[in-house]
Amino acid sequence: MTEVKTYPVDPELSARAHITPERYKTLYRQSIDEPESFWAEQAEQFLDWFKPWDKVMDYDYSKGYIRWFEGGELNVSYNCLDRHLATRGDQTAIIWESDDPAQDKKVSYRELHREVCKFANVLKSQGVKKGDRVCIYLPMIVEAAVATLACARIGAVHSIVFGGFSADSLRDRIQDADCHTVICADEGLRGGKKIPLKTSVDQAISHCPNVKTVIVIKNTGNDIPWTPKRDIWYHEAMKTASDNCPPETLSAEDPLFILYTSGSTGKPKGLLHTTGGYLLFAAMTHKYVFDYHDGDIYWCTADIGWVTGHSYIIYGPLCNGATTLMFEGIPTYPEPDRFWRIVDKHQVNIFYTAPTAIRALMAQGNDFVNRTDRSSLRILGTVGEPINPEAWEWYYHIVGNERCPIMDTWWQTETGGILITPLPGAIALKPGSATLPFFGVKPEILDNAGNVLEGEAEGVLVLSRPWPGQARSIYGDHNRFIDTYFKNFPGYYFAGDGARRDRDGYYWITGRVDDVINVSGHRMGTAEVESALVLHEDVAEAAVVGYPHPIKGQGIYAYVTLNSGVHASEALKQELVDLVRKEIGAIAHPDIIQWAPGLPKTRSGKIMRRILRKVASNEIDSLGDTSTLADPSVVDEIIDHRANK
Ligand code: WT7
Repeated sequence: MTEVKTYPVDPELSARAHITPERYKTLYRQSIDEPESFWAEQAEQFLDWFKPWDKVMDYDYSKGYIRWFEGGELNVSYNCLDRHLATRGDQTAIIWESDDPAQDKKVSYRELHREVCKFANVLKSQGVKKGDRVCIYLPMIVEAAVATLACARIGAVHSIVFGGFSADSLRDRIQDADCHTVICADEGLRGGKKIPLKTSVDQAISHCPNVKTVIVIKNTGNDIPWTPKRDIWYHEAMKTASDNCPPETLSAEDPLFILYTSGSTGKPKGLLHTTGGYLLFAAMTHKYVFDYHDGDIYWCTADIGWVTGHSYIIYGPLCNGATTLMFEGIPTYPEPDRFWRIVDKHQVNIFYTAPTAIRALMAQGNDFVNRTDRSSLRILGTVGEPINPEAWEWYYHIVGNERCPIMDTWWQTETGGILITPLPGAIALKPGSATLPFFGVKPEILDNAGNVLEGEAEGVLVLSRPWPGQARSIYGDHNRFIDTYFKNFPGYYFAGDGARRDRDGYYWITGRVDDVINVSGHRMGTAEVESALVLHEDVAEAAVVGYPHPIKGQGIYAYVTLNSGVHASEALKQELVDLVRKEIGAIAHPDIIQWAPGLPKTRSGKIMRRILRKVASNEIDSLGDTSTLADPSVVDEIIDHRANK
């Protein structure tokens, strides 16, 4: 194997960092050897509790049973807002940067607290109570944070749906969580383009009879459809709302939110996160992974519709009293220097983004970066997929001017927060490796039979200990939670990723080992895309796989078998792409559709995806064993007509 470059810890940075190499070793050992005392100390240090817990941790993975800080009582919005007022009421909590580079605004902790209290009262006046599910379908505007924290304040469970999902996806999520209230904007704005959010909500809830209230934020101000009584304007309701709203007392294990993510089978699952452990883990990882210090300007470019936005735009930073930047737009609008212009304009110190964005900007050339200053930057981060060393080096040398360490953070919707990651002052970097486990996290590499592999090894990645930010269930389907994460390898949490551990104990994530693909850092179930394709009356069968894509990481490659007699045309391909957009959203649209008169199947009728993946990646020399195929000639046909030659 070729030697990989190592970037040592910068001693100057280490000298003022929260976690030094020695401290990492000591604390990590303590977190594994004495987890109860370790986590109790952290919970006291990071959070304000109304009532202390009785028991730090209890779990039984065979039942999917995970509890942290049971008996403890607290409120998340109190921890993110109220407790900061005395010391940092006038400090900026949120810097909002509009899609339009000429517009931005700053919201102080005091102002945010006031808005959240008022909106919490609006929700209450609409009958929303503790435990009720509230759907949030918003663009990246300050009101998204207000709505989220207002739910937390009264103990309502938010279910944020990414604004890029279609009306049909929104409908499924509203129905699954049985939300009675939806919060949306008239329209979103991204890269100068309008996104008709309210129209999608109307379409979605024409199939959701339980939705009684739609609260609409006026964002672009354009005309939208309106249903009197059901629809209310946010700004009108806020006018008369009181700003006095004491935080509800919640148990540590009361639900905080549901967030949907794709799996290898079936419909997206609503991961359920709870209150105390989640908040602690978000706050603690935010502070240590980004070496956050008071006064830092922190920017995570994710959308609040993904878990990264939940934990590292809203909950972690605000719990730590940070200034968090929220960006409404996209990296390439009006020009591909937008990120760096924002960094300069707001003097951002910590910048956290996704490999797909880095690759997209790298492709635009260095001039867009070099014409900006970026000297405020101190720490860089990435998340969402493995970062290829070439993109890592570009990020390090060109964006960070070789001054800023890169935190390659591995985690998932299910994990609530970062699990495998460098720490700026403590862990030497290797481009492409997420490096070492965070405190309390114990990864193992298993072979397919479930044997633990020691030392240098490659296999499936599992975690042998619970951590506070771990999801507690799949909403409405606890058995699916057990089956998905705890059945394959009893005694462990199975992440769905493969990984390699090198001789220094560093982890290298090799990608999903299931039928999930990672498109621009977004998880997409191949089964979901297939279900959408077969809805078309001309389609007999479809099989979807990922293939390497220079910008997106993985692209979506669909093999489609048409019904006999149907004419295969470019127009039909477009219809299928549009159908997937409508069913799921633009992020799921197939990049390539190949007509396949037949699909390679075993004699028992199972599609052999392994072969389809190889053909899509143009790795036809290593197809492997095809002798178990029912009809081997199908493969030749598919190879002859492959798109990526
Ligand atoms: C999947 C989780 C965690 C927030 C964003 C995505 C992949 C994530 C990395 C990384 C290699 C990564 C994994 C994981 N992934 N971060 N640093 N290196 N792979 O959350 O949508 O729940 O997806 O993203 O495959 O399982 P998600």
